[in-house]
Amino acid sequence: MTDRDDATRDLTARGYSRRQAARIMGLFGAGVAVANAGTPLWAQRNDGPAEGSEPKVRIGSNECWTGPFPVAQAAAAKIVASSNFYHPGTEVSDFKKTLATMENVPENYILPWPGSSDPLSRIVVSFCSPTKGLVTADVSYEQPWGTAEWAGAKVTKVPLTADHRHDVKAMLAANPDAGLYYVCSPNNPTGTLTPLADIEWLIANKPAGSVVLVDEAYLHFSEHGKSAAYMVAQGKDVIVLRTFSKLFGMAGMRLGATIARPDLHEKLMRYDGKRMSTNLPLPSLVCGTTALTQAQAISERRAQMIAARTMTFDHLKKRGIAFIPSDANMFMVDWKKPAAPVKDQFAALGVGIGRSWAPWPTMSRVTVGSMADMQAFCAALDKIMA
Ligand SMILES: Cc1ncc(COP(=O)(O)O)c(C=O)c1O
Repeated sequence: MTDRDDATRDLTARGYSRRQAARIMGLFGAGVAVANAGTPLWAQRNDGPAEGSEPKVRIGSNECWTGPFPVAQAAAAKIVASSNFYHPGTEVSDFKKTLATMENVPENYILPWPGSSDPLSRIVVSFCSPTKGLVTADVSYEQPWGTAEWAGAKVTKVPLTADHRHDVKAMLAANPDAGLYYVCSPNNPTGTLTPLADIEWLIANKPAGSVVLVDEAYLHFSEHGKSAAYMVAQGKDVIVLRTFSKLFGMAGMRLGATIARPDLHEKLMRYDGKRMSTNLPLPSLVCGTTALTQAQAISERRAQMIAARTMTFDHLKKRGIAFIPSDANMFMVDWKKPAAPVKDQFAALGVGIGRSWAPWPTMSRVTVGSMADMQAFCAALDKIMA
């Protein structure tokens, strides 16, 4: 019996048809990331416009306004000369050790990935199926439900609470027998946190065999947020997902990590003969490892973002424009009229703001960029409102 036979058996036992199993195996087996597999065209490339068509001020795709910390860039540049080797040294274990120490989990609880999109889709395929659905907040980051729909799993969408937290009790009640409960905190696109106590409640009350996925893509930008990684250390059925695409400014370098019990990680590796995630771009690994330890640079960058966000919120308040207060590098602004034409007006002025979400067609997501970016946003806003 080959690994491939094992994986196919697992998929069909979990309710996938042989045809669906072949499709999933085809993607993973070919070594192709499934990140965008189920994602509609508009949502690919992290919601951004087509490559090369971005306006001057890029505040639409939740990217960082600047690149990796200089010391991390220097470390990445240095390793390029040794990149003829798959593993010239201890780069993978250095990454694991560094993150494990910071999060207080054993080193074998850390897996690095080329960004967080690939593991996010894998987690959906691994824990959802035609008989075990996905539960997600709405509005939230849509990639997991795109993958779940593609894989034939039921998607249950539960509105956020009035103060934009995940409504964990309603999420469990909406599907008490799901395979995966997805919590994005801070949430994309609202930038709002779900309290750790709520996540603890969900983990304590969810059905046996299911998993809670906590997506912490924006955690480093949050002033008040704390990681759910301690729940992983406690041995709970939880996977914490991280990316270096946001505060660390590495979206184009591709580095992410999952923090989870080894038996949960094993389940993510069933469909590709356990080949994924061992070979990653060395400059990305080294850049990420170095960046993680730069506590002062991290808090300075967060403070810069908060200053730009506060300036922008003050401007919106002065103009009487409603917005959702955010704890991350994005916020939803409510134009009280269809958002798509407003986005076009900003684009015509060289300012690329984000899109809206189906339940909130009058709101746009705006990424917090540099102070200069946000001054350009405010100036464009003044022109549009004039
Ligand atoms: C909440 C969330 N999770 C995951 C991702 C995937 O990012 P990446 O693949 O660059 O790590 C994004 C990207 O915008 C995101 O907003």
